[in-house]
Amino acid sequence: LENIKPLNIGHRGAMGVAPENTLASFAIAIKQGAQAIELDVQMSNDGELLVCHDDSLNRTTDRHGYIRDLNARDIRTADAGAWFADSFAGEKIPFLEEVLQLIPTEIMVNIEVKETKDSRMMQRLVELLNDYGRMQHSVISTFDHKWLVKCKRQFPDAQVGLLYAVDLMDHSAYAASLGIDVYSLHPRFDMISDIDIHNARKRGLAVFPYTVNEEVEMRRLVQQQVTGIITDYPAVLDEVKGTCYFV
Ligand code: G3P
Ligand code: MG
Repeated sequence: LENIKPLNIGHRGAMGVAPENTLASFAIAIKQGAQAIELDVQMSNDGELLVCHDDSLNRTTDRHGYIRDLNARDIRTADAGAWFADSFAGEKIPFLEEVLQLIPTEIMVNIEVKETKDSRMMQRLVELLNDYGRMQHSVISTFDHKWLVKCKRQFPDAQVGLLYAVDLMDHSAYAASLGIDVYSLHPRFDMISDIDIHNARKRGLAVFPYTVNEEVEMRRLVQQQVTGIITDYPAVLDEVKGTCYFV
């Protein structure tokens, strides 16, 4: 493995310092050194893809209700910034489409699919990525690995990543067992050992651990040569990367 520093991936933008999954959060993440953005995708009742972590508006907006029960027009009336700080009032739950329009193409996008029960999700997501020329510079990830296998079989151009929070016996052997070309592993950072990281990288898998907010963990993962680090604080990771030397 060559000594290459991991990609700085902003978690829900820069959720440590801005309201998660808003355009403001994505802009701040990029300004603070993020080279990629992780975001979560839900689907409205009328089939629009919206960027939100939870399946309801309750925690991160001034409105209530499940996203799957509401039409996009109603969801868009919710304020998704004021709960975090007054200065962010007026932020909306973004359409995935506007995020793909706004984020520069050199910024990699990691789309985490939260709604895998609605059969419209896969087709619509791939359509959008194709429309905006993002197939090659994006990763679709989800905790629902059966959905991911189906997605890769149906759309071989898609780059897919396994998201999980369990320290498997052998992480890359699990990926290989799925019978598809897996692009990346997205383990919870404290549930993958150095040897599993090493084996995965040797087999050509990208490794993107989440969510890494402590400097000491960031330094360890830089040394382990992970492909990218998902963090709530892209500014902190940027600083750490600047002062990290391979031993
Ligand atoms: O994609 C990494 C991470 O975001 C997965 O967990 O709950 O923060 O979406 P969660
Ligand atoms: Mg996520």
